Amino acid sequence: MTQPTAFSAAGDTTAPEWWRSAVIYQIYPRSFADANGDGVGDLAGIASRMDALENLGVDAVWLSPFMRSPQKDAGYDVTDYKSVDPLFGTLDDFDAMLASAHQRGIKVIVDLVPNHSSDTHEWFIEALAAAPGSSERGRYLFRDGKGENGELPPNNWESVFGGPAWTRTTNPDGTPGEWFLHLFDSTQPDFDWTNPEVREMFRGVLRFWLDRGVDGFRVDVAHGMIKAEGLPDYTPNPGGGSMGGDDFEVPYWGQEGVHEIYRDWHKVLAEYEGDRVLAAEAWINPLSKMAKWVRPDEMHQAFNFPYLETAWDAQALRPVIDESLEAFGAVGAPATWVLSNHDVVRHASRLALTAENPQGHGIGPKSPGQPMREVGLQRARAASAFMLALPGGAYMYQGEELGLPEVINLPDEARQDPTWFRTNGERYGRDGCRVPLPWEPGTTAYGFNTTGESWLPQPEDWDDYSRAAQQGVAGSTLTLYTTALELRKRLDLGLGSVTWIENLPETMIGFRNGDIIVLGNTATTDWEIPAELAELPVLLASTTIAGNTLPGDATIWLQA
Ligand code: NOJ
Repeated sequence: MTQPTAFSAAGDTTAPEWWRSAVIYQIYPRSFADANGDGVGDLAGIASRMDALENLGVDAVWLSPFMRSPQKDAGYDVTDYKSVDPLFGTLDDFDAMLASAHQRGIKVIVDLVPNHSSDTHEWFIEALAAAPGSSERGRYLFRDGKGENGELPPNNWESVFGGPAWTRTTNPDGTPGEWFLHLFDSTQPDFDWTNPEVREMFRGVLRFWLDRGVDGFRVDVAHGMIKAEGLPDYTPNPGGGSMGGDDFEVPYWGQEGVHEIYRDWHKVLAEYEGDRVLAAEAWINPLSKMAKWVRPDEMHQAFNFPYLETAWDAQALRPVIDESLEAFGAVGAPATWVLSNHDVVRHASRLALTAENPQGHGIGPKSPGQPMREVGLQRARAASAFMLALPGGAYMYQGEELGLPEVINLPDEARQDPTWFRTNGERYGRDGCRVPLPWEPGTTAYGFNTTGESWLPQPEDWDDYSRAAQQGVAGSTLTLYTTALELRKRLDLGLGSVTWIENLPETMIGFRNGDIIVLGNTATTDWEIPAELAELPVLLASTTIAGNTLPGDATIWLQA
């Protein structure tokens, strides 16, 4: 299976845009590095650790939101889109961080949250103060309730974080008023994207960050901004997952109207020099539908969540890779690959969960079964080495290069995810993948800061995971990633193609990309490498290889 190369039409010698093959590293600013010691990471902290990212060899970083926010959803609830929250620093700190990344040739992508604001946004405050039917209310989705006195929500939609997606307002005289829609927390009111004022405001936000020099945007909930006419009732498909599912007829996900917004934004980005990028967080199945988000005049990339949700299983991986290359290739976009982010259980734990306990969105001490750490790490290393050999864009989440597991035993009182509160502790939520990073072993807060403060407690046994403990150490997870990224770049794998190796056992998966052959053993048992392959030099191995044996849960790259 070859990935179509829509960008290199005959006679066109223009170099492909950087993002077609880039490795993009997600920084979760609260948990990356904390320069001022208040327990929450910050922009100065990121700048101070930029060398580590250069050494790792990433092409770009994506920063989760650092704009002014009450932090009810860790910054995905924005008060002012053109600002930096004092928790993370100042606009000057942002500029300095950007300059330090650019000096090292690292691009910077920022997070844009257009589906909803915080309830502390000036527009929402104005809306609450204004009368029903006013232009101030028209920027959000206010509706009358149902029932005799409007005491029932306008429809039956549920919040992604649990509970109803509507909250009732109180009029200035204390009587109950209209309801407003929030697909997420009740502090995150949804904008009405049919309102031209909302569109104009966001064009301004794009320009604000583009003018400062950012290389693009990761667009939050890029499948949710337009809601079906009349806001009809909808009962979710039970297998749909927290962000939606296969059912394309969900009245708040994947509505056709979102596409004209991205066509508009595409034009805004095109006004700027350099290849600026829009990356969609669009939980849309199947991939052939997700590919609509990355048609040539819309966004440039979309996160491949079907790949993230695939087990370490040869039989499951091949079809999702084929489907991805085909679907994205058909619209001239690169495929992307991702295994972890700030919303899912870290893959060093997730891949060791059993079929009976497949929880991709939060595990904790009372979850059925617990992932085995060693198995999870072996599988994660194998899965990452496999992913990084695929053509297209690859997304990494901070800490995966250290092999960090999910923290499953956070004390209840430390948890901060709104999901935990809105489900009365029934769903653990996402705090377990957000614990601050370990930098140096045996130091205060593992070098995250010098005060020992940490907005989520760090486990006591993270010395060996810390970056300094792994830097330059043969066989460490950090060395595996650093070597993979160096080879990927040198051999141009990101712009390559996939040719499957046939006639392998059911639990083996193999492909050729340019000058390398990649073999993944998804069984737990050894595989004897056939003589014709065994004689090829090993360029990368996710585990120790002895003789001609590829151990279970392992990936190797061979020089073809
Ligand atoms: C998706 C983000 O990744 C997640 O962290 C956030 O809670 C929701 N969108 C709402 O903005």
